[in-house]
Amino acid sequence: MNVLLIGSGGRENAIAWKIAKSPRLSKLFITPGNAGTAGFGENVNINTNDFSTIKSFVLEKQIELVIVGPEQPLVDGIHDYFLADDKLNGIPLIGPVKAGAILEGSKDFAKFFMQKYNIPTAKYKTFTKDTLTEGYRFLEQLKPPYVLKADGLASGKGVIILDDLNKTKETLEEMLNGKFGKASNKVVIEEFLEGLELSVFIITDGKNYKILPEAKDYKRIGEGDTGLNTGGMGAVSPVPFANNVFMEKVEKRIIIPTIEGLKKENIHYKGFIFFGLICVNGEPYVIEYNVRLGDPETEVVIPRIKSDFLDLMMHVANETLDKASVETDPNAASTIMLVSGGYPGNYENGKIIKNLNLVNNSLLFHAGTRIDGNSVVSNGGRVLAITSYGETIFEALNKSRENADIIDFEGKYYRKDIGFDLK
Ligand code: AMP
Ligand code: GLY
Repeated sequence: MNVLLIGSGGRENAIAWKIAKSPRLSKLFITPGNAGTAGFGENVNINTNDFSTIKSFVLEKQIELVIVGPEQPLVDGIHDYFLADDKLNGIPLIGPVKAGAILEGSKDFAKFFMQKYNIPTAKYKTFTKDTLTEGYRFLEQLKPPYVLKADGLASGKGVIILDDLNKTKETLEEMLNGKFGKASNKVVIEEFLEGLELSVFIITDGKNYKILPEAKDYKRIGEGDTGLNTGGMGAVSPVPFANNVFMEKVEKRIIIPTIEGLKKENIHYKGFIFFGLICVNGEPYVIEYNVRLGDPETEVVIPRIKSDFLDLMMHVANETLDKASVETDPNAASTIMLVSGGYPGNYENGKIIKNLNLVNNSLLFHAGTRIDGNSVVSNGGRVLAITSYGETIFEALNKSRENADIIDFEGKYYRKDIGFDLK
């Protein structure tokens, strides 16, 4: 079958790598893709939010399955666009409709949903410009650190955690006055939770679900989880503390109530759900929902799925996921992200990436790269994810680090301590 994959990051490179292994694939197109996805299909330069050009392309190339990687087109209603179009509504698309994507698109809705369905999460209240004073009073009742969250999508930058009450009040006011544009018209203030975080992924057809391998990502730029937040500096799977007892709690208290809640809200959800969880004294709490796979988690989750990916996607499309099985590789997988010097602040693109051909014992997933003549050059803050398998996440990390030393480009930086808190 002909497949269109929407997106351009390391996540999409890992998905493209996996799809290319399927005997069911005729031709894979990736829009817009990157230098890595070009090895597994044809990159097509269409903006992910340009639904009408996507429509023409899907019809012209007789696409039989569309997989959406990032959240923005889902929140903007790409699935609804397909369902509303006579020519497109028979073509399966993996990713929720707008009413489901709002689980990521509005933190206020996500919190309301969790409260309604008794899903464990931090206590919260939502405020607008008109209720700023009530917001101050709520903050005064909480203990530091204070957690402020812009309601809407803010490219991963919309969460601010502060220790000082006055600074927090100022920041709340700035947010409600447009610090993140419309995304912070509403601000969620919530209780701070202390514990280790992990990412749990499921795929659902709206009725049934399958749990995929869990992962832990490392968001801060500096070693020891210090410095600014990034899109993700590395990831490991499995997560040692996510043992059977813990995962049973996650399934019973979080996954099942989420699926049941979506049904009760009449949200017909076909796609991935990413539960951003935190483990507080052995008990799981939801920090956030995402309506897609994580990046860089996908670069370790997908390599640990042994089952055919297109089979799995067609079971989602046909609502027969109860008949599918997800076989997991007992090997661990770890990934280390090479980033541009200066990231997550200013950085330069166009640096020639050397020694890609010398990589041994690792998979390379391109995040921000492009082909320039005969060279692969950097084209983003996060440049390459180096994924390795091992008997343990630490053995896998050693292989990734060896290759992280070999690959070179001006300004290259990576964290050498991924997994440090799991030893
Ligand atoms: P998010 O953008 O929702 O992923 O939040 C970014 C990060 O902020 C999370 O990965 C957590 O590390 C942190 N965070 C968010 N909410 C809380 C909370 N209630 N308690 C502690 N940390 C939090
Ligand atoms: N790695 C976290 C995310 O994809 O949002």
